[in-house]
Amino acid sequence: TVKACLFDLDGVIVDTAVYHFQAWRRLANELCFDFTEHQNEQLKGISRMESLELILNWGGVSLTEEEKIAWATKKNQWYLDLVMQMTPNEVLPGVPDFLKSLRENGIKIALGSASKNSKLILEKIQMLDYFDAIIDGNNITKGKPDPQVFLMGAEATGVQPTECVVFEDAVAGVQAAKAGGMKAVGVGSADILTEADIVISTFEGFSVEKLLQM
Ligand code: BG6
Ligand code: MG
Repeated sequence: TVKACLFDLDGVIVDTAVYHFQAWRRLANELCFDFTEHQNEQLKGISRMESLELILNWGGVSLTEEEKIAWATKKNQWYLDLVMQMTPNEVLPGVPDFLKSLRENGIKIALGSASKNSKLILEKIQMLDYFDAIIDGNNITKGKPDPQVFLMGAEATGVQPTECVVFEDAVAGVQAAKAGGMKAVGVGSADILTEADIVISTFEGFSVEKLLQM
């Protein structure tokens, strides 16, 4: 049976993935190259510094450690400029109702995100109160596809990994869930999230009943 649901943030609760893409693209453009939305899929779920490494690789740009930190800081500032304009209207459709019904059914709710900005974002969209536990980029030492973030979420809610279901839009995130012995609901496209147990395109029409049938 399912006793806890663990949610990724970016691309699951809210579509910050587009803001990350915008900010990373600006960085690439300032370094005189570009990358595609298809390449962007690889950045989902990956930490800020790991994302930077991948992007610099695509552009064939090599930087010193100091320069890398400076560019990552710039990117985060551009990203935060976009985040600061976010409103509760940006919560993805069906998410609040689904979280409410989890609550009503006594199922714990945790966040498992690679982002160091997760609390700020949850505040902006007024979703902070839904979560029993928040594990994010500030708490972890190993990024997705390592299961650490979700194992810590299970631990924080006092639930065994086998009784947890993870909601993820990233390939690396689905892999992290499976590596942790958890079920995974992919949020997005079944063509991309091939390792998920099921894939939904939106939370609208998804329910606790369907969750318990997994
Ligand atoms: C993940 C996103 O949730 O968080 C990645 O999918 C992002 O795209 C990562 O790089 C780290 O986020 P932040 O907010 O700490 O830069
Ligand atoms: Mg995500």
